[in-house]
Amino acid sequence: MSRIAVVPGSFDPVTLGHIDVIARAADLYDTLHVVVVHNPSKSALIPVDDRVALIERAIAAAGLSGNIEVSKWSEGLLVEYCSQVGAKVVIKGIRNQADVTYETPMALVNRNLAGIETLFMLPEPGHAYVSSSLVRQVAALKGDVRPYVPHIVADYLNTAR
Ligand code: PNS
Repeated sequence: MSRIAVVPGSFDPVTLGHIDVIARAADLYDTLHVVVVHNPSKSALIPVDDRVALIERAIAAAGLSGNIEVSKWSEGLLVEYCSQVGAKVVIKGIRNQADVTYETPMALVNRNLAGIETLFMLPEPGHAYVSSSLVRQVAALKGDVRPYVPHIVADYLNTAR
């Protein structure tokens, strides 16, 4: 049986913490689907197709293997996407207690809706304070985002200025 997992998120933008969790998860599963979940009614800094492209390029630059697929999803529940790709597991990075509080209701809803289990994974401690919202703030105020995001993302944010 092929083991398939999903790493979902807004990835606005993808950070080094995300890439760390993606790398760890890809080691454990035959196929890992990284999905940019896009809420069309919510405004984002980076267009969804650019977010997908940035993740693809960051994964390639990190030398990660060919078992990772990157896509976008805006058509409904995450569990519907999971069923479409045949995944029974969602993986989320957990940095601190606030993440546990935020993620737990979503994990329980996904299990109640469709029996999808959520596994929480710890990133490298060096990435524990990095978040997409912090990166967006630093970028908006013209600070240096290179310590927090893949090179390709830093270049993208610098060019967008
Ligand atoms: O990176 P984020 O913003 O913390 O990711 C949250 C996300 C997009 C994974 C979550 O909001 C989600 O799964 N949305 C899809 C809609 C859905 O299935 N909602 C019900 C269960 S959470």
